[in-house]
Amino acid sequence: MIIDGKKAAADLRVTLSKAVSELKETKGITPSLTVVLVGEDPASQVYVRNKVKQTTEVGMISNEIKLPASTSQTALLAQLAQLNNDHRVHGILVQLPLPKHIDENVIIAAINPEKDVDGFHAMNSGRLLNGEAGALVPCTPQGCIILAKQQLGHDLSGKHAVVIGRSNIVGKPVALLLLQENCTVTIAHSRTKDLAQICQQADILVAAVGRPNFVKADWVKKGATVIDVGINRIEDEKTGKTKLVGDVDFAEVSKVCAGITPVPGGVGPMTIACLLKNTLDAAKLSG
Ligand code: GUN
Repeated sequence: MIIDGKKAAADLRVTLSKAVSELKETKGITPSLTVVLVGEDPASQVYVRNKVKQTTEVGMISNEIKLPASTSQTALLAQLAQLNNDHRVHGILVQLPLPKHIDENVIIAAINPEKDVDGFHAMNSGRLLNGEAGALVPCTPQGCIILAKQQLGHDLSGKHAVVIGRSNIVGKPVALLLLQENCTVTIAHSRTKDLAQICQQADILVAAVGRPNFVKADWVKKGATVIDVGINRIEDEKTGKTKLVGDVDFAEVSKVCAGITPVPGGVGPMTIACLLKNTLDAAKLSG
């Protein structure tokens, strides 16, 4: 079965639209998200355009701040200080990657954690680690859990989840969320020995490595649920045009597993929907 992330994201946006209307009526608060884009990276421009469009579609206020690639770290920090102090701004997202001369860690640390809708600030990752309420949780990992539950039902207890990848944006937080769901969690990465054998044990396999078609059918247990976080642009051998593929060899793995997220149309659409959910949560906490 294909796990339809496009539909799940659309359903979530409907729920969010209703919640936004309710917050406006009951508290007079309209959630607002400000996206900061530094430079002209084409992929980032596409992401930001989609974010802006979907933010307004669910009834939230969307602001976009475009800064030239030459912006200094000091100037970006000053911009963030202004947004941190602006009570009309509930969510702040600085689009990554940033130009080389800017230290991403310094920038992430400068965002007010209550407005950090990416969930990348150490305060939010620490809260997630400790299982504390009120954490803003990274968006893509949230989307992975929603899609896994769509396949497996609400209770993931006792399932063996194998996460390939240990990034701060996906691998580590998705592993923590799966642990919170009472899964037994294995985190595998580029130095893992016998990776195929470890993956074969997974009831839930999350691939977040950034290598096209990396996970093969003989790595996957029959009946497993496969969540593919990869977004890799490769050249199509037949047409010569570029196309998007995941970290999982969809054609062969889909024959073995019980459920799989496609690329595109799986985890991708969930990321922005979960960003909107975080913006709503940040706005609620502000009121
Ligand atoms: N660039 C690609 N994905 C993301 C994301 O989830 N958040 C931010 N801030 N930048 C990104």
